[in-house]
Amino acid sequence: MSTEAEQFERISTRVFQNSSAAAQEVAGEIADLIKRRSKEGKQAVLGLATGSTPLPVYQELVRLHREENLSFRNVVTFNLDEYYGLNTDHPESYHQFMWQRLFSKVDIPEDQVHLPSGTVKRTKVFASCASYDEAINKVGGLDYQILGIGRTGHIGFNEPGSTRDSKTRLVSLDALTRRDAARDFLGEANVPRYAITMGVGTILKADRTVLMAWGQAKAGVVQQAVEEAPNENLPAGLLQGHKDVRFFIDEPASELLTRIRIPWLVGPVDWDKRTIRKAVLWLSKKTQKPILKLQDSDYNEFGLGELLTEVGPAYDLNISVFNQTQHTITGWPGGKPNADDSNRPERATPFPKRVLVLAPEPDEDVLCMGGTIHRLKSQGSEVTLAYLTSGNLAVPDSMARQILSLMSEMESQLNLKNAEDFSLGQVASVLLTELQDSGSNAGDSKPIRQVKSLVRRNEAGDASHNLKIAKESLHFLDLPFYENGRYRAFHATDEDQEKLVALLREVKPHQIYFTGAHADPGSVSGVGYFLLKQALKEVSNDPWIKDTNLWSYRGIGQEWPLFEIDMAVPLSPDELNLKVEASFQYRSQRRQFPLRDSAHKEIWQQTDELNRNTAAAYDQVGMAEYEAIEAFKRINLTEVLES
Ligand code: F6R
Repeated sequence: MSTEAEQFERISTRVFQNSSAAAQEVAGEIADLIKRRSKEGKQAVLGLATGSTPLPVYQELVRLHREENLSFRNVVTFNLDEYYGLNTDHPESYHQFMWQRLFSKVDIPEDQVHLPSGTVKRTKVFASCASYDEAINKVGGLDYQILGIGRTGHIGFNEPGSTRDSKTRLVSLDALTRRDAARDFLGEANVPRYAITMGVGTILKADRTVLMAWGQAKAGVVQQAVEEAPNENLPAGLLQGHKDVRFFIDEPASELLTRIRIPWLVGPVDWDKRTIRKAVLWLSKKTQKPILKLQDSDYNEFGLGELLTEVGPAYDLNISVFNQTQHTITGWPGGKPNADDSNRPERATPFPKRVLVLAPEPDEDVLCMGGTIHRLKSQGSEVTLAYLTSGNLAVPDSMARQILSLMSEMESQLNLKNAEDFSLGQVASVLLTELQDSGSNAGDSKPIRQVKSLVRRNEAGDASHNLKIAKESLHFLDLPFYENGRYRAFHATDEDQEKLVALLREVKPHQIYFTGAHADPGSVSGVGYFLLKQALKEVSNDPWIKDTNLWSYRGIGQEWPLFEIDMAVPLSPDELNLKVEASFQYRSQRRQFPLRDSAHKEIWQQTDELNRNTAAAYDQVGMAEYEAIEAFKRINLTEVLES
């Protein structure tokens, strides 16, 4: 039975404070099922998924096995999918994924584990898929199916167009899905084009299904699957026909649900400063009228009559939200010295401030807040740019190859070789051979990763030079979780946290700029945010932290909505150009092949557009018209510590 708040939702959806809380609940349900079945002397049949989403569930299941004696002897599993063409020992095969993350860590008998075969001959694929479905039927069907959701709305690898009654089969992967997998495969060109997936029909036959989604990037597809009429363009929406389906999502993934986005159209609202601001800015956008021109009739016509009665009239509401929004705009992100700061986002003193900008990887600082960094510096703040990770996993082989061949050629061309020493050129030649010989998916050796780290360090140096930040102000933390991991397999350690704590204690910043609170918790930004949270906990009793303001910025494509913005830093056309030029320095992050469709832009084009869009949004609600704006939200330390 759904509540008034959920009236627009066609699938029962629970929003959890974070992914760990949701994953614990799912793991708990699975554990109960396993134990119940075991008591009855029966097997529990689980449908399993791969990807980042179910990782916290698997971690919890492993913990329950190790610490609470949960046995998997009576468990039979069927995985949703497998890439076609990958051997089971390929590091990105779902076989590897499942054995590394779960099966090898629990006591499940090997012959009770099933995954579609990615290596079956093309002529045998149809029969092999049919026997996969047959095997599921033979054990009595799936008792509990867990799912993630792709940005195309896929479940398993059932891409848009998959039918409700589709069975296990060979499918070709959507372009967006392949792009999302490009990082895992160290380049889009290496991502398989085909996969074998359980069909939508196979999934719908499971007794219970739980779909999980974390992070803001999933908010759009979650909203469509939950609220729109089911159609084959969004396979996850077809779950609406299932007898026992639930979505477990975290707060960022719930952002676009009607009950969260526009709660006043759903039921009674406890109006506070934040929701009032949200409603008035929404109304201004909806009516395409500047805030100060909104009338009582607009409020009434668009479902905000209650707001009007409680805190109206329109005139007062308009003035109040107009002023709040106006006061978010500042050209002095580090605070303006000797000025009245009662209506400014950042206090005037102390001045200059010590500012710490934390970027998950080199380039995010420039792309998301390059203009602000430049301003902070030119207005006298002491700016430290700290890169949590080296970013070497995102450097293509082609770039490492180019640099190494340059090194080895320089040696021979310029006759630099010193016969007695083991020269740099020789090292380069050895590494070049290694790059040439390695398969496209073999993980890089340590020296190759070091070369790639150097690529990004140098780019960061060049980019910050454009922003007038000296090399001495850059810190490369090279956190071990990244250096020892690969995508979808990052594990934060105490050492990571210690490095971050040491940096915080060294800089004692008055401002920290950070990101990642809304990202998938398994992503580089997500792990970075988790570590910052832990580090802040550790320093929370240090005297200096009481004087630190926390400013959160968001990555490309995840911009802050207007009502969340506490500080908007306008950029002049020249400053925007400066930032774009700085982002050009990240040559390794450019696309490695020509753009075939204009919808997919280079990252610098996206940042340019994003900052212009924020400025246009301010303009539309009646603020001054700027070329571009970088936006930040102020977060309280207690809020971070409790999240
Ligand atoms: C994986 C699978 C996919 C993923 C989806 C989300 O077995 O079936 O549907 O669940 O692509 O991937 P992540 O969790 O990595 O965001």
